[in-house]
Amino acid sequence: MELKKRLMEQAFCLPQGVVGRLGGRLMALDRVLPAWVLTLLEVGPSDSVLEVGSGPGLGLALAAALVREGQVVGLDPSATMLGMARDRNRQGIEAGHVELHLGDAANLPFDDATFDVAFTINSLHLWPDPVAGLREVRRTLRRGGRIGVAISRFSYASADRFGDHLINAGFEDVSVHTGDRGTCLIART
Ligand SMILES: C[S@@+](CC[C@H](N)C(=O)[O-])C[C@H]1O[C@@H](n2cnc3c(N)ncnc32)[C@H](O)[C@@H]1O
Repeated sequence: MELKKRLMEQAFCLPQGVVGRLGGRLMALDRVLPAWVLTLLEVGPSDSVLEVGSGPGLGLALAAALVREGQVVGLDPSATMLGMARDRNRQGIEAGHVELHLGDAANLPFDDATFDVAFTINSLHLWPDPVAGLREVRRTLRRGGRIGVAISRFSYASADRFGDHLINAGFEDVSVHTGDRGTCLIART
């Protein structure tokens, strides 16, 4: 039981090493959920986009294909995930269009009002203090900025408290969307 828990943590919570890379490959199998989240967020060509808990970088790659003039930035506390995201987004990184940061939702290394859009998928339930992390994301969003918080329907976690977390972090206009692959809450600053 203890071993199973440790393996799950290494694969999905703070992915590390070989097990983490395997977890990253599994995470990147679902293109539908991140693509749907970006559609709900109405990401446009000039938006600057932040993904917190960007894992193996599929969401970043999909966002980079939508954003032509703006910047796409990913942040994750796992060096293993950043390595996978770097491989997946090499072209965008070399073009200066995609940026990756090692870090935690609790302390984002970005100025106030930097981004138009932020999203986080299958990650919020792992943050030690989700409300503090969402407040931090809100700080980095411009006035009228949008956030998407999603969870896969295959996850052990649920979206039940996401709405309260968003409201407690100061977000407004919270809407809940249910799709084939999961649930996504959209809100505004
Ligand atoms: C299950 S993976 C999901 C990755 C990706 N968003 C996806 O859906 O494929 C969870 C990710 O959240 C990251 N994470 C864990 N704790 C975090 C925190 N406190 N702040 C930001 N990201 C965190 C992990 O490192 C991991 O990459």
